[in-house]
Amino acid sequence: MKKLYGVIGDPISHSMSPDMHNDAFQALGIQAHYQPFHVKEADLPKAVEGMKALGISGFNVTVPHKTAVMPLLDEVDPLAQAIGAVNTVVREQNRFIGYNTDGEGFLAGLMAEYDGDVLSKRILLVGAGGSARAIYYTLSQKGAQKIDIANRTAARAEELKKRCPYPVETVVLTMEEASNKLANYDIIIQTTSIGMSPHAESMPLSLDHIRSDAFVADIIYNPIETVLMKEARAHGASAQNGAKMLSFQGALAFEKWTGTMPDPSRMETIIYNKLG
Ligand code: ATR
Repeated sequence: MKKLYGVIGDPISHSMSPDMHNDAFQALGIQAHYQPFHVKEADLPKAVEGMKALGISGFNVTVPHKTAVMPLLDEVDPLAQAIGAVNTVVREQNRFIGYNTDGEGFLAGLMAEYDGDVLSKRILLVGAGGSARAIYYTLSQKGAQKIDIANRTAARAEELKKRCPYPVETVVLTMEEASNKLANYDIIIQTTSIGMSPHAESMPLSLDHIRSDAFVADIIYNPIETVLMKEARAHGASAQNGAKMLSFQGALAFEKWTGTMPDPSRMETIIYNKLG
């Protein structure tokens, strides 16, 4: 009998995960199916209970359930606990265990393209929302030494820094300060919605002082090339978009479920095909 996996969210019809995972199951000859489930906030407890009763082998969790799902699980991995969000649930016998592969997916996607040891570099994190938290805590847990944070709202960046359970050196900056000090950074990670429609023509900070050997990782994948990425390239720097993070977080979830790492570049191709 086929194993069943899925994703729960609201909305869910736009999710690229079903195509990514079903393609990987097929490519690897694994007898399994991945199904999107539209679950409203009020139905979340019943949905998780139903997943267990139906024998679902694992599932992804997306907006708006990533935090609310945590108390409904039997166990939450410490990194996901620190991040305060679960995007992947693995079934072990009759227990549901929650993980977060967003930060690890980001790091793996960056390491796939960055020529150098990411964790020893001077990193600037732009933004202090949910995605920034997953990335900041994961990089810190893996041993990153220096991650400064620039955010429009300084209090949110201070909060992120204060609550980080892993040792890392961090200075909180305004966007203007970060722009002026940009030559200090090897890697710039962009996690705000600036660069995405309806702010597609904007950049969260100026790249006038970027070094030509710097690397900009923008987690936006629509548009596939943000203004910030174009500007980085115009200064001779390198840049990647968020399709790497999206494909690797999926690939890492798949690996947790099946024990096999799928080819992330196939998942990335599916993302580009879906974006048109
Ligand atoms: P996500 O889960 O995608 O990270 P989020 O938690 O809403 O989304 O975080 C959005 C991030 O984009 C925050 O860093 C936010 O800055 P604030 O903390 O100051 O709100 C940033 N952001 C969103 N719109 C912005 C804007 N117009 N200008 C500057 N920063 C913006």
